[in-house]
Amino acid sequence: VDESKVEAILKRLTLEEKVGQMTQVTLDVLTIGPDPFSSKEPLVLDPIQLETAFKKYKVGSVLNTANNRARTVEVWNDLIGKLQEEAIKETGIPIIYGVDAIHGTTYTAGATFFPQQIGIAATWQPEFAYKGSQVTAYETRASAIPWNFSPLLDLGRIPSWPRMWETYGEDSYLTATMAAAAIKGYEGDDLSSPFSVASCIKHFIAYGAERSGKDRTPTWIPEIQLREYYLGSYKAAIDAGSHSVMINSGIINGLPVHANPGLLTKLLKEELGFEGVIVTDWADIENIYNRDKAAENHKEAVKKAINAGIDMSMVPYNFKFCDYLIELVKDEEVPIARIDDAVTKILKLKMALGLFENPIPKEGQYLDFASEKFKKLAFDAAAESITLLKNNNVLPLKVNTKVLVSGPNAHSMRALNGGWSYSWQGEKVHEFSEGYHTIYDAIAHKNGKENTTYVAGVSYKNDGEWHEEYQIDIDEAVRAAQHVESIILCLGENTYTESVGNMNDLYISENQEKLAKALIATGKPVILVLNEGRPRLISRFEAELKGVIQTYLPGNYGGDALASILFGEINPSGKLPYSYPKFPNALLTYDYKPAEVKESMDGVYNYQNAVEFQYPFGYGLSYTTFTYAGLAFDKTNIKADENFTVTVKVTNSGNRAGKEVVQLYSSDEYASITPDNKRLRAFQKIELNPGETKDLVFILNGKDLSFVDYDLRRVTEKGSFRINVGTEIGKLNVVDTKVFTEHKRVM
Ligand code: IFM
Repeated sequence: VDESKVEAILKRLTLEEKVGQMTQVTLDVLTIGPDPFSSKEPLVLDPIQLETAFKKYKVGSVLNTANNRARTVEVWNDLIGKLQEEAIKETGIPIIYGVDAIHGTTYTAGATFFPQQIGIAATWQPEFAYKGSQVTAYETRASAIPWNFSPLLDLGRIPSWPRMWETYGEDSYLTATMAAAAIKGYEGDDLSSPFSVASCIKHFIAYGAERSGKDRTPTWIPEIQLREYYLGSYKAAIDAGSHSVMINSGIINGLPVHANPGLLTKLLKEELGFEGVIVTDWADIENIYNRDKAAENHKEAVKKAINAGIDMSMVPYNFKFCDYLIELVKDEEVPIARIDDAVTKILKLKMALGLFENPIPKEGQYLDFASEKFKKLAFDAAAESITLLKNNNVLPLKVNTKVLVSGPNAHSMRALNGGWSYSWQGEKVHEFSEGYHTIYDAIAHKNGKENTTYVAGVSYKNDGEWHEEYQIDIDEAVRAAQHVESIILCLGENTYTESVGNMNDLYISENQEKLAKALIATGKPVILVLNEGRPRLISRFEAELKGVIQTYLPGNYGGDALASILFGEINPSGKLPYSYPKFPNALLTYDYKPAEVKESMDGVYNYQNAVEFQYPFGYGLSYTTFTYAGLAFDKTNIKADENFTVTVKVTNSGNRAGKEVVQLYSSDEYASITPDNKRLRAFQKIELNPGETKDLVFILNGKDLSFVDYDLRRVTEKGSFRINVGTEIGKLNVVDTKVFTEHKRVM
């Protein structure tokens, strides 16, 4: 970016124009109602509102889509073209348009939909995060949209949190690895390429750690924990070059994050060195006073947020933000230097994206939109994400056997895609489903319609909101089961995101449990297919199931990918990116502390704690078997900052080709604070033919064994470490102690 150009623009802008650059409104504000409810009709812009937004308030950014629903590429181009004309006419500066294209171009009809992030994590294949993001960038830019509010880098450590499926799971290393790959995919090497979008890492920081598990309720988190688990993914994404950050809507330790200078300025800008644009989440400046009562009025909230470090306000509906901010600057309550800093960053981003030269794309540039090669990638990602969790010799199925496909998710494209698919809550998916296969369609396609019976058994209410299902006819499903050899039972959840998906009970809903038990009672083998955004508890009937497969939210090709796995054309290779809990009061992550496992103490206390997961983190079966042998180190005594090598042999000991995710964990035996049970430090996904052996090499550094100590220092301590890969365990000594970084408290 030519800094002198940015400076020249900044110099000529009035205060009003600068504040306009810091303002983002939703498209609903600019369009005329009633919405034609068609994805093909051009949206009608409201001349009065356009005048208010662009002439009066000089708005510099717009987001989302009117009535929160998908449009065609042509509608997008036409619409954004008109908005660009309005904006450029007033200030000479193009707007930056943003959407949530979180598993494909959310609001564009025909776009390629990949598995949601939780599924991408389950592939344990950063290449899918990279290539999937590349395709999404391409199709988003084809829709004239240069800014994507993705990826989500919060951790999925609380399974009831309704955005769990938007994460890369519970582990910070897996998340950081996927994050870096996604940023490279979205942004490429050159943001001005017509095939790149600016990424927006969200929601800084520790969103999803709410104590209640409900969206945007208070979080209480010690800084040591924040740094140990939640900071790594943001650091990785910033180091990978992400150009923008969205802030956590919630409240940490009593203070709304949007008003927290410690987190926004000291941690994000000064410590992590982030130099891009910091945008709020939806109406979150108003929320500081409205919802959180942490400012006396809206104006005070604006002052707190901007002084804390916010650059752009997702307002989204009215222009009070602008009026207040102008007054605050005039009254010297917000320094003009802070405004200039924010506007400089916004202008730099627009310039880096090439928006001044090309505010909308050139025609004919996007011939690969929804191409076969994009679809194939989405199918492959789904196939590599699907995770086989139990197989008592029932899978793969033979084709042409009589099967019953049942459950509320068996015949629903909506359930396969999840939220942020053509609309915010995913409830419009059926309008765009033509040509895609539900689970039932895909199974019937492979197995023959005549061999495949479908009875929903129970269903979801279809009124646009998220609901537990209600009963249709369990008896009919039981009757149908009499005539088949096996039952494929597709349970899970309907689509939702954000607070709409809040819940009180992690057990799979009652009617689905009833259906499962009724079908199990038929004595026919039941294979449970889970299609859900978070692990719903199944422990009340899991023991009676013959097979269990987790599909997560696999996207438009998930039904086909699942059918290929069920009938053995593809060997499953997904692994859980979270710990699947068994009981509602035992919600642990795999990196728990040793005190969680205790068998009787000193005779006074006599109790047992056992950590029991339904399925552990990193778990997933294959149709073949793998054996591990010969774990070795190049040296067993290392310095705290020295490289060392771990080698291990992995053999495909079964009789078909397959892929294995080789996971390396370390455990600090004793430390100055109680160490974690184990931590993932490296992984590689490999493919082996039957009988084939590969020698795998992992190069690590003593720093990879570090942790955040009681004084907030990142330190590798002298002592002994266990290294574990598959069934293999070895021991390593670190001979000295080294402090890598020391930090002042930021909150
Ligand atoms: O990006 C999203 C965010 O994740 C949740 N609130 C709305 C934003 C913009 O749509």
